[in-house]
Amino acid sequence: MYTGFKHMHITVVVLFLILYFIKTYLLVANKNEQLDKLRAKTKIADMILGSLMLITGGYLLYKAQEVKVYHYVKILVALSSIPVGIIAFKKRNKVMAVVLLVLFIYVYGVAETKSLTFKRDKIVIAPLSDSTVTKNSTNIMDQNADAVLKNGENIYKGATCITCHGADGKLGAAGAKDLTTSALTHAEKVAIITGGKGSMTPFKGSLTEQEIEAVAVYVDSMKK
Ligand code: HEC
Repeated sequence: MYTGFKHMHITVVVLFLILYFIKTYLLVANKNEQLDKLRAKTKIADMILGSLMLITGGYLLYKAQEVKVYHYVKILVALSSIPVGIIAFKKRNKVMAVVLLVLFIYVYGVAETKSLTFKRDKIVIAPLSDSTVTKNSTNIMDQNADAVLKNGENIYKGATCITCHGADGKLGAAGAKDLTTSALTHAEKVAIITGGKGSMTPFKGSLTEQEIEAVAVYVDSMKK
């Protein structure tokens, strides 16, 4: 509804402006005959456009979240333009007609930019220095990695790993491999911890995927 009215308002204003512009041109160029013809022809159209402009504008204003100074300027110009326009064309006063045209264009600009000085509100984005961004993200990643490692250590020590591998990973009970010299990749370790190997029991059921991931990270860190 609101956007419908807004589009209608803009369309009406543009049509009105075009018509007004042509009439002003005819007036200034002394083409009085054509001007009279056009005025006669567009008399009703002019009235309809003018009323629609006020109705749609009034509705938009009624719906506006806050009424700003530029709204008042628009209303003032719109309302005062009615008598001024009528007098200007009746008395064939070129200056008045041109001044009104300039005023219309000014107000159109005001409405478009929502500013009396045509300055659009600038959205200021606080500059983020590269170093802040990288520092923050590495901080988070560091914290995260620390947490995973700590978690992995707890699982390693809390689970049965130490019974075969020992707290330092070197125990080698039940034929367990020395974890400090393991040449396996992280993924291979994850696979062995998950599925077991030889006399090493699989941990698939007793540890979650994340826990296995964490304990594998801890085993990675054991490597000298
Ligand atoms: C029952 C004893 C036992 C327990 C408990 C055990 N392991 Fe093992 N682990 C072994 C044996 C034996 C091997 C060697 C398997 C092979 O290569 O045949 C091994 C191999 C590994 C390897 C591969 C090392 C390499 O370089 O080949 C990793 C990694 C590993 N264990 C991690 C763990 C973790 C982590 C835990 C605890 C969640 C754990 N193990 C619990 C016995 C055990």
